[in-house]
Amino acid sequence: MDRLRADTPGCARVAHLNNAGSALPPAVVTDTVVAHLRREEEIGGYEAQTEAGERIEAVRASAAALLGARPDQIALVESATSAWTRALLAIAHTRSIKAANRMLVSSAEYASNVLPLLQIALRTGAHVEFIPDDASGCVDVEAFRSMLDDDVAIVAITHCPSQNGLVNDVNGIGAILDGTDAWYLVDACQSVGQLPLDAVATGADFISATGRKYLRGPRGTGFLWASDTALDELEPFPLDLHSATWTAEGYEVHETARRFEYWEKSYATLLGMGAAIDYALDCGVESLAGRIGELAQYARDELTRIPGVQVHDRGAQRSGIVTLTREGVPAASLAAQIKAAGVNVSLSTPDYARHDFDAHGLDGLVRVSPHAYNTSDEVDRMLAAVAAAG
Ligand SMILES: Cc1ncc(COP(=O)(O)O)c(C=O)c1O
Repeated sequence: MDRLRADTPGCARVAHLNNAGSALPPAVVTDTVVAHLRREEEIGGYEAQTEAGERIEAVRASAAALLGARPDQIALVESATSAWTRALLAIAHTRSIKAANRMLVSSAEYASNVLPLLQIALRTGAHVEFIPDDASGCVDVEAFRSMLDDDVAIVAITHCPSQNGLVNDVNGIGAILDGTDAWYLVDACQSVGQLPLDAVATGADFISATGRKYLRGPRGTGFLWASDTALDELEPFPLDLHSATWTAEGYEVHETARRFEYWEKSYATLLGMGAAIDYALDCGVESLAGRIGELAQYARDELTRIPGVQVHDRGAQRSGIVTLTREGVPAASLAAQIKAAGVNVSLSTPDYARHDFDAHGLDGLVRVSPHAYNTSDEVDRMLAAVAAAG
């Protein structure tokens, strides 16, 4: 704990309970980014990239280690949305989606995953269907089994939604999909860095992740894990000169997950994400998960003691995301009052997950998301601000 705080300069300035938004990075992350920018300043951007070649490839290996996967299955991209979208474009390009097709998504799916599916549905006549929740409020694995047929082309499940503390059973869904033709996309944007995740055990074809949240990397970073089946069968669209080679006969797609990358990147921030992943691996994701879970549960337990406060988190297993409302205080005002008390939290609105908000009759939530470097005193400051809000 002392080490985590000493490594995190921002801890001295702010109580940051907005790690599901963008976490405070450890100093090693910022130092890594700045050091690379300095080399670009000193010797030139291409030259600095060549000099850092091995360290850049090591980022792929670090991301792979986090998921128990191989480096050649990792594409380094700018965000979870870039990762997810490139997977979808490859699916839609390789296997044309037809009017008869169905695309099944979790009820709490993130908006940026649903919107492109709605676009495809509008263009092709295919359908987007929400998988019902079970009694605990998570994706209902048995209901999913009964929905599955040969027309299902795409299944998209968010592991830990942005706007609720539930954790979906991505492995259970993957096990049911084994041997089917449906492409399975797992959004691990909120789970990488806070919960252990084994890529192969999910049975997914793709896993998308971001750098800036629980991994504590810089903004503008992310990665995509692609299964061997995805690498064997899918061609990204559109290609560029990094994802493929232009030959005299036509083109050859790169063998590895590099096929999902574009040529130009911010190598400084990418190296920063590598430093963040290495830091998380060094701490141990299991122990980070334990500490985050404890702080989040402490926050939930204490919040429910405050008159008028409702905690909305569902599911048997919980993530580090805590969501609440307080009777008589609009969520936007509650979030603003907590922030005014010097505690960073965020406001979740239906724009992030329309189906989930509508299904639960909500128009806004305050999201509190501690990380392992936070203290119970910081959670207490948030609790005091919630109790004092009016
Ligand atoms: C569950 C989930 N998926 C995807 C995203 C998109 O991530 P990014 O902004 O890195 O594209 C977010 C961002 O908050 C998220 O919470």
